[in-house]
Amino acid sequence: MSSNPLFQPFTLGALELPSRVVMAPMTRTFCPGGVPHAGVVEYYRRRAAAGVGLIITEGTTVGHRAANGYPNVPRFHGEDALAGWKQVVDAVHAEGGRIVPQLWHVGMVRRLGTEPDANVPGYGPSEKVKDGQVLVHGMTRDDIREVIAAFAQAARDAKAIGMDGVEIHGAHGYLIDQFFWDSSNRRSDEYGGDLAARSRFAIELIQAVRAAVGPDFPIIFRFSQWKQQDYSARLVETPQALAAFLEPLSAAGVDIFHCSTRRFWEPEFEGSELNLAGWTR
Ligand SMILES: Cc1cc2nc3c(=O)[nH]c(=O)nc-3n(C[C@H](O)[C@H](O)[C@H](O)COP(=O)(O)O)c2cc1C
Repeated sequence: MSSNPLFQPFTLGALELPSRVVMAPMTRTFCPGGVPHAGVVEYYRRRAAAGVGLIITEGTTVGHRAANGYPNVPRFHGEDALAGWKQVVDAVHAEGGRIVPQLWHVGMVRRLGTEPDANVPGYGPSEKVKDGQVLVHGMTRDDIREVIAAFAQAARDAKAIGMDGVEIHGAHGYLIDQFFWDSSNRRSDEYGGDLAARSRFAIELIQAVRAAVGPDFPIIFRFSQWKQQDYSARLVETPQALAAFLEPLSAAGVDIFHCSTRRFWEPEFEGSELNLAGWTR
């Protein structure tokens, strides 16, 4: 009954939230074999029961051999994992909550030796070789098509099991962000060059997700200036450059931008108090 806007319902297209409290995606590495179990169901159910309006799940990997970078991260592919997520969805809905999976591909962050196949190196925009060993496989156009198809399939599955939308992880120096960032994207084909060209991968991926889920299914896109490899990294230096970066992503099918700042209280550009979310809005 609070009059605080935080506790008012929120509607955006098909997404109707009981409150504006949104749980950030947080990796917990508590899914052996990549399958959400009863403890995971209970973990998310409790958040919904306590009044969280929208839960964004921990990062959960799309169905590509190099998507995963850490032990015990849940998959968002395979019958067993999707059946586990279906139980999570049903438990959250029974408490009146809403939930979207955060779809994740770690890209070149992946190390040899990581599950599920220890021999698969990281995949990234550009190759990285050390002492004759391929640490990062530079993605071919076929690899790009395969990863995009994996995101589209995951989004289709999310809709099929009753998720309320999807969040695409385009932040923090993981695969999609590695394409955005000039330090990690050294390509000379149409997926490299200026920021507009480096956005092509994300744009095609968002378009494929949109085509997979139809016009009304909410697509959230998470992005950040900062990278886990470099907290001071920046994709854009001005509000105009931010607009030029985001507008094509929006046109491709994003409904909501989730702006990750690490420090929400810090102004994004000089001469204004607005943070990244403020400028994005
Ligand atoms: C334990 C833990 C796990 C996290 N895992 C993820 C994750 O899987 N995906 C993600 O996008 N962010 C992850 N984060 C980052 C948070 O979602 C969030 O970005 C961070 O707390 C800072 O908030 P801000 O980005 O909204 O500024 C994680 C943070 C913590 C503390």
